[in-house]
Amino acid sequence: MRSSALFLSLAALAEVGKARPPVYTLEDDYEPANFFDYFTFFNTSDPTHGFVQYVNQSAAKATGLIANDKSTVYIGADHSNITPNGRPSVRITSKKAYNRFLLVLDLEHMPFGCGTWPAFWTVGPNWPNNGEIDIIEGVHTNPTDAMTLHTSDSCGITNDGAFSGTILTPNCYVAAPGQGNNAGCGIATTNNETYGAGLNAIGGGVYATEWNSTDITIWFFPRGNIPKDLTHGQHPDPATWGEPLSQFQGACDIEAHFADQQIVFDDTFCGDWAGNVWYPSLYPSCTAQAATCTDFVANNPDAFADAYWSINSLKVYQQTSDWHTPGHAPWGVDPYLPKSISSLCPIPTASMG
Ligand SMILES: *[C@@H]1O[C@H](CO)[C@@H](O)[C@H](O)[C@H]1NC(C)=O
Ligand SMILES: *[C@@H]1O[C@H](CO)[C@@H](O)[C@H](O)[C@H]1NC(C)=O
Ligand SMILES: *[C@@H]1O[C@H](CO)[C@@H](O)[C@H](O)[C@H]1NC(C)=O
Ligand SMILES: *[C@@H]1O[C@H](CO)[C@@H](O)[C@H](O)[C@H]1NC(C)=O
Repeated sequence: MRSSALFLSLAALAEVGKARPPVYTLEDDYEPANFFDYFTFFNTSDPTHGFVQYVNQSAAKATGLIANDKSTVYIGADHSNITPNGRPSVRITSKKAYNRFLLVLDLEHMPFGCGTWPAFWTVGPNWPNNGEIDIIEGVHTNPTDAMTLHTSDSCGITNDGAFSGTILTPNCYVAAPGQGNNAGCGIATTNNETYGAGLNAIGGGVYATEWNSTDITIWFFPRGNIPKDLTHGQHPDPATWGEPLSQFQGACDIEAHFADQQIVFDDTFCGDWAGNVWYPSLYPSCTAQAATCTDFVANNPDAFADAYWSINSLKVYQQTSDWHTPGHAPWGVDPYLPKSISSLCPIPTASMG
């Protein structure tokens, strides 16, 4: 006699022998209580030449630059001291690397203000050949997010995708002729809830980034409008989310240009971007306060009280053909499986292993 389990799966197969698309299933939950265990702390000088002192985990904890509990992660910068040699801050890189993902960040607050240059991004070990995906990035008092890819040669983006943003630079190659040095391919948004003061004013929201074989797509959902399959579901489905902010595709073999991406959070000061745009014509409210970006950052500790990330959750989903784990939520239950199979699903226990 065959086991009843086999009988059931044969029955399921018979039922669903037709189209049964892969689904996203939780792979890693960077749960706040253990958040920093999943990252390494960058401890050398900033490759982007920022006016920053990146500190290690024990120093960051001892000086209050990082804190976490069961529900929130805080990553900030020194906001008590005059710092003539660069402001203490934190840059962390996930120990784990990914190939393709659906990366979901629930963010309550992000660093903002004159002198700052925060970023939430992913990068491969062999830059630029493994690619870089900048999901949240900006400087000073910018009102909106800048999304950018940086790659080796022969990767470009077009307007063919359906997205609300505007292409600023189409060539992702870091040394593309006719673009600024390391400009990469950039997409801008006019949505002022996606960055800085606007994001913080609404209690943030969720950034979801899908990297598959053909596209890199970024959605932002403000706090009041997060899809239910992200808040309660087990199998988030980007096809149901509506228009993204950006979609990078068109003239790029994504598979050839992106690999082994690690997740990074940082907040640097001045440096190659923020330091080079300290102009009254661009940021009058900042430049009115100091002659140079580094003067401002060194001498105004109070201004950096707002320069922090507050993270509610960070989750990585991967495509699987398996609807079984997990499958009991009111959203994301496998519509293809008969109830008797569905109810055998184990309770979700996914976490970083
Ligand atoms: C700096 O970081 C590297 C990589 O995480 C680590 O191996 C090294 O021990 C760190 N050094 C200091 C002084 O913290
Ligand atoms: C961390 O940094 C502090 C301050 O620079 C230093 O004294 C300490 O040795 C470092 N710890 C590790 C583990 O490298
Ligand atoms: C964002 O834009 C809206 C509409 O233009 C405006 O009312 C609001 O004040 C802006 N928010 C910020 C923080 O600038
Ligand atoms: C990649 O993701 C985008 C956005 O969800 C989607 O439109 C596209 O069909 C996906 N490509 C593949 C091969 O699944």
